Amino acid sequence: MAATMKILGIETSADETGVSLIEAEGSFDENFHFKILGNALASQIELHREYGGIYPNLAKREHAKALVPLLIDTLTQAGSLKKDEGPTFVKGLFHEILKKEPELLEALIPLLGSYERPQIDAIAVTVGPGLEPTLWVGINFARALSSAWNIPIVEVNHMEGHVVMPMMENGHFREFEFPTMALLISGGHTELVLSREFGKYERIGETRDDAAGEAFDKVARLLDLPYPGGPEISRLAAEARSRNLQPDFKFTRPMLRDDNFDFSFSGLKTAVRKLVESQGPTFKNSPRSDLEKFKMQIALEFEECVAETLVEKTLRAADEFDVDTIIVGGGVSANARIKELLANRMMQSAGPRRLLVTSPELATDNALMIALAGYFHAQRGEFTVSDSLVANGNLRLETLS
Ligand code: KG4
Ligand code: ZN
Repeated sequence: MAATMKILGIETSADETGVSLIEAEGSFDENFHFKILGNALASQIELHREYGGIYPNLAKREHAKALVPLLIDTLTQAGSLKKDEGPTFVKGLFHEILKKEPELLEALIPLLGSYERPQIDAIAVTVGPGLEPTLWVGINFARALSSAWNIPIVEVNHMEGHVVMPMMENGHFREFEFPTMALLISGGHTELVLSREFGKYERIGETRDDAAGEAFDKVARLLDLPYPGGPEISRLAAEARSRNLQPDFKFTRPMLRDDNFDFSFSGLKTAVRKLVESQGPTFKNSPRSDLEKFKMQIALEFEECVAETLVEKTLRAADEFDVDTIIVGGGVSANARIKELLANRMMQSAGPRRLLVTSPELATDNALMIALAGYFHAQRGEFTVSDSLVANGNLRLETLS
């Protein structure tokens, strides 16, 4: 019988700060199950709205501000925050580790000084891909806690978190088989990844320019919709469907006919820009209902175009590699139309039978997925020495193998 492990997950790769504590047992291949003991998330979306995207320096500061309160929240939910009655001497090099993060250090000192060391077996932290300045905040936080509490660290590839999350349901694995084909769609990534066993990945296709989420965000900006654009476009497209609005224009499905598993979304963004510009400079002053209708038509046709391209190439890839299980992960997998189209096409074809997608709340960035991916590595004893942790903005899934 395998022992249980408590894993603290830390996520700071983009504009969500996440801290999560899970208790898990078993291995990837046998008897795995887990409980969420605490889970906390702080979104910076409101802050970045003004810029229409993530502003790295601002993001870094916000992560530094959010981490200690989120850790306290997580440990409180878990019932793991216990006042230390006796005199406390906090050991470790955390002062040194956090010397470039004075605000984080200042917030951490009272926590370390007044509470007992919680029972945690490993700290799982995102080391990439993402924004390096923000990744460093999470890494240094993990190192400081590791030093003060003497807990080993597991480094986690953020994308593996997006792969693992859809495999779970109610603390257990869903039923599925390797090989799996993962369509990973987020703000920074769009790729098709083949996996024959846990921890081994082969990228068979990717975007040649913008990521799918980036395309949603950029098109939203062209339509004067707030950041992040995915949910906004999706809402307008749904409205267009319910009103049965038929667009009188069509965008070309990018790279759909090409004999590869790559994607391209920047041309689509340009097509939207040209269409908006063709309406003339005074168009934005046209009657509100006309403008709304036009935006809905664009949202509908754009979403349809992205969904068709993603779904078609994913199914072709599954076919080519004889895959039965498709995983869709990353923030864009919250998109209802993409899921619906994929499920429909799967039903009509003799191809893959299983579709693993997580709920919209867990599709976007969170620390639960980091704790989960981290657990499987911790369970195999794959720890990293604190001093050798490095943020890697372009970290690839293949390098895990
Ligand atoms: O995975 P994620 O939270 O962060 C990154 O790792 O990038 O993904 C964020 C992206 C954003 O581009 C956002 O617009 C997109 O996911 N997104 C959506 C939806 N919800 C979030 N895109 C399309 N439809 C949605 N419902
Ligand atoms: Zn992500």
